[in-house]
Amino acid sequence: QIKALNAADILARKGSTPLVCLTAYTTPVAKLADEHCDLVLVGDSVGMVLHGLTSTLDVTMEMMTLHGRAVARGIKRALMVIDMPFGSYEESPVQAFRNAARLMADTGAGAVKLEGGRHMVDTIRFLTERGIPVMAHIGLTPQAVNAIGGYKVQGRGTDAARIRDDAQAVTDAGAFSVVLEKVPAALADTITAQIAIPTVGIGASAGCDGQILVIDDMLGLFDEFKPKFVKRYAHLAADASTAIQTYAAEVRARTFPAAEHIFTDQGSTS
Ligand code: KIV
Ligand code: NA
Repeated sequence: QIKALNAADILARKGSTPLVCLTAYTTPVAKLADEHCDLVLVGDSVGMVLHGLTSTLDVTMEMMTLHGRAVARGIKRALMVIDMPFGSYEESPVQAFRNAARLMADTGAGAVKLEGGRHMVDTIRFLTERGIPVMAHIGLTPQAVNAIGGYKVQGRGTDAARIRDDAQAVTDAGAFSVVLEKVPAALADTITAQIAIPTVGIGASAGCDGQILVIDDMLGLFDEFKPKFVKRYAHLAADASTAIQTYAAEVRARTFPAAEHIFTDQGSTS
């Protein structure tokens, strides 16, 4: 019996071997990720990756709940973290607690993730003090795309102090780890050295305490666009296209189904 990791286990990995993290949105992919990952995130990226939305702003509690339930069925060992969708937590700590508790109870996730630094510290403290482990997310926060004006690198030059302060603030508020998205590598290294909780980088630095990628990006399954920080470890969209093309040709040529795919009056029944 392998015990699942919890938020305290992830926190304890600070400064140790790198935390391997990926997103997942479905049971079969969660099973694959769980074999090799310490943390599996049900990201609100699901809206763009699986639902064809153009940003994460229209992702709902219902979408997160359905995908969270599916992912939970595939996880045995990794910590399952679930994103709080836009509009479900920003209003007040009470609103955030109500929705975080619902997401955890309805899906079985062991922690929630929410976007924001200093302005979210009251909420992070409110949740952590009441038993909900929080993963913070600073730097580029995609739910703020309209305010930021695009998916730009954050924390360059004199703007670095803002991100450093955010990292310290979410640490002091009780977050068990923090995602650093799209910040200069040297800044990510400085923050990793400065704070007492694991940093998980995406477009940050190999010096972070861990890394995360959107699984459909790294598998080359989502290929609408490729951010610079994505490395494609496979090309599943291209493989799928070739497979479908071959199937179409074989159907038209009546070479599929072949003898091994069909039933006769005798022989096997399944
Ligand atoms: O939604 C998501 O996939 C994320 C990760 C990229 C950190 O927030
Ligand atoms: Na997200």
